[in-house]
Parts: sequence; structure tokens; C-alpha cells
Amino acid sequence: MATRVAIFGPGGIGRYHLDHLHRRNVDIVAICDANDRNLEDAHARFPHAVATKDWTSVFATEPDLVAVCTPNKWHHDITIQAFEAGAHVICEKPMAMSLAEAQVMEATRAKAGKLGYINFSYRNNIAFRFARQLIRDGELGHVRRINVVYLQSFLGSPSNGFSWRNDIEIAGFGALGDLGVHMIDGVRFITGLEFEKVVGTKQTLMATKKDAEGQERSVTTDTNAAWLAHLTGGPIATMETTQVAPGYGNYFRIEISGDLGTIAVVSDKDKELQMSVGKTLSGYDTWTTDLPIHQVPSGFASRQKPDGPALIIDAINGIESDYPTFADGVAAQAVLEGINRSIESGTWTPT
Ligand SMILES: NC(=O)c1ccc[n+]([C@@H]2O[C@H](COP(=O)([O-])OP(=O)(O)OC[C@H]3O[C@@H](n4cnc5c(N)ncnc54)[C@H](O)[C@@H]3O)[C@@H](O)[C@H]2O)c1
Repeated sequence: MATRVAIFGPGGIGRYHLDHLHRRNVDIVAICDANDRNLEDAHARFPHAVATKDWTSVFATEPDLVAVCTPNKWHHDITIQAFEAGAHVICEKPMAMSLAEAQVMEATRAKAGKLGYINFSYRNNIAFRFARQLIRDGELGHVRRINVVYLQSFLGSPSNGFSWRNDIEIAGFGALGDLGVHMIDGVRFITGLEFEKVVGTKQTLMATKKDAEGQERSVTTDTNAAWLAHLTGGPIATMETTQVAPGYGNYFRIEISGDLGTIAVVSDKDKELQMSVGKTLSGYDTWTTDLPIHQVPSGFASRQKPDGPALIIDAINGIESDYPTFADGVAAQAVLEGINRSIESGTWTPT
């Protein structure tokens, strides 16, 4: 039987959700968007769905699954209503505006006995998945150090106007939450390690931006953030993100060294990774400057199911499914909150 799906905010990333969900047997029963044009566009694609701005009308369609693809401010309220209406939930990242909100969302999910998926989309990256496998298989030995950068430029461009992403009341975070949460989840996913304590800093390098009416609006979110972390077992992670680094489109790189090797993955290189691993190789010093590039074995790639949000449909249908859960969302949110508290206090902060 088709899974009945309702979607909130099909205008942006919501389109990706709809594409991925259609890899399984789904029926889009309701579409909700605050913007007329986005609502009409989505309705044209699914004319039999209820198209509405009214949340109550959405839940009246009795969806089995609700996809929450709105800006961050509404993740909590829609998710709570969805669980209370008896639906499973896919929620965009960052899960919530605060750790307290995320914890309530997870508690409500558990009480309702439903499933929750957080769209940590880089978990679909085959190279990230192979890096995780290498570490699980002990190829790197003990993880010793981690370096992560996630660099974009779009916010620095004058052609990119003021949006909800620049408003702390709607976004909750700037680069720290928008990109940093992927970095935190990426490290947790690939290494299996948890963040124990953090110390960070952030700044806003774009004071104002013009909105659609040409008015200068204050940017109240961070455009740059950097933090250090200690992970379980002792590795130090150094992490930096920005939305205003000219020349960078969407550059997300995770590098990990263990006592037996080093690997690095870059998000837009899905099928390859840089690595130098193994007991023999690591037993010699080397003065070459780059890590060699290796293709992800096709036999590994072909066994992956990089179906993103569709994976929750498998789980709903009782098929074993490895997907990012609400618990993962809460864990990442706790690190974001720890970084913000460390910035306020100026000290290392447990997460
Ligand atoms: N996982 C990822 O890789 C990824 C990528 C991009 C965005 N996101 C996340 O997805 C969410 C949306 O981001 P986006 O880039 O798609 O934004 P967007 O502005 O492009 O789209 C958001 C949509 O939500 C609608 N909307 C706004 N308020 C609403 C409300 N109260 N009720 C119903 N609809 C509402 C907007 O009209 C718009 O159509 C954010 O949480 C963002 O962080 C995640």
C-alpha cells in the first residue's frame, strides 16, 4: 500500500524530498507552503493533493508521513503536531532552533511510537560511506585527528539578496547551524565517535544585505564559525565554516588520520577519496605533499542505497534501513548548543 505523504515547504529542498520519496511507493496527499507561487508549482505536479496554507487541513488528510522542509523556526511546531496526529516525520536540518526544542521533538516521537528522520543528506555520499567502512574495518587504526572545512561564497555575493537564512529569529544559526551541523554529523557518521567538549568562535562578515524590495536589512546570523572539539577516545577535531569565502561554491571536506593512515573525502566527489593507509605505508616517513586519489570500489558503491528520505519508507514497511534518526539530530544539536555556550563563556564546554 502506498505511504500517504504530506509535505510542508516544497519550495526549496522539499523538491529533493519529493524526488527521493518517489523512489518508493508513495501518495502525496497534502502540500503546504506559505508562498503562493511555491504552493501552486507543487500543486501542478501533484494535482490530486490538498494544497493549502492551513496546517489543520494538512493533518485532516491523515498522512502516514510528514516531511518538514520549511525554514528552521517551524521545524519544532510542525513536527510535534505531526507526531500527535499519528504520522512519522522527516525533518530538515538543523533539527531545531535549540537543544531544548530538539529534545522535546525526540521525546514526542518516542511517546508516539513513530519514526523520525533528520535529513543529514551527506550520509548518501558514497565516498563518505566508504570512509566509514574503512574506519569500521580498522584500516586507519585508532583515529587521532580530524580536520573539517565547509566553505561557501554565496552569501558574500551582492546578487544574493536577504533571506530567512540571514535572520536569527527564523534560522536560529548562520553558517554554524546551516553548514556546521552537516560537519558535526559527518564526523559522527564516518568515525562513529561522539563530541565530548568544544570551544568555538564566530563572526558576521556581511553586516547588511538588500531584500527583495531593495531595503538594506541587518544580517543577524554568523557568516563564519570555527571550533575545536575533543572526541571520545581523545582525537582533536579542527573545524571551520563560512558562507563568504570567494571562489568556494560548496566545498565540504573531511580529513581523518589514524595511527595507520589518513583519508579525506570531499562532498562533491562522490566516487573517490584521497588516502594513504596501511601498516606498511604508515611505517615509513614520506615527503610527498598530496594524498593519492583512490576510486571507491564499484562493488561497494553498487551495494549502497543512497536514497535519502526514501529510506524511512523502508523502515515504516519493516525493511532494515540505516538512516539518520532524531537521536542523531539531537546529538548534533547538542554540539551546536555547546559551541554557542562556549562562545558566550569563552571556555571549553561539554556537549
Ligand atoms: N539537508 C540539506 O542538505 C539541506 C539543503 C538545503 C536546505 N536544507 C534545510 O531545509 C529547510 C528549508 O530550506 P530551503 O533551502 O529549502 O529554503 P527555501 O526558502 O528555499 O524553501 C522553504 C520553503 O518553505 C516555505 N515556508 C516558509 N515558511 C513556511 C511555513 N510556516 N509553512 C509552510 N511553508 C513555509 C517557503 O515558502 C519555501 O517554499 C531548512 O531547514 C534548511 O536548513 C537542508
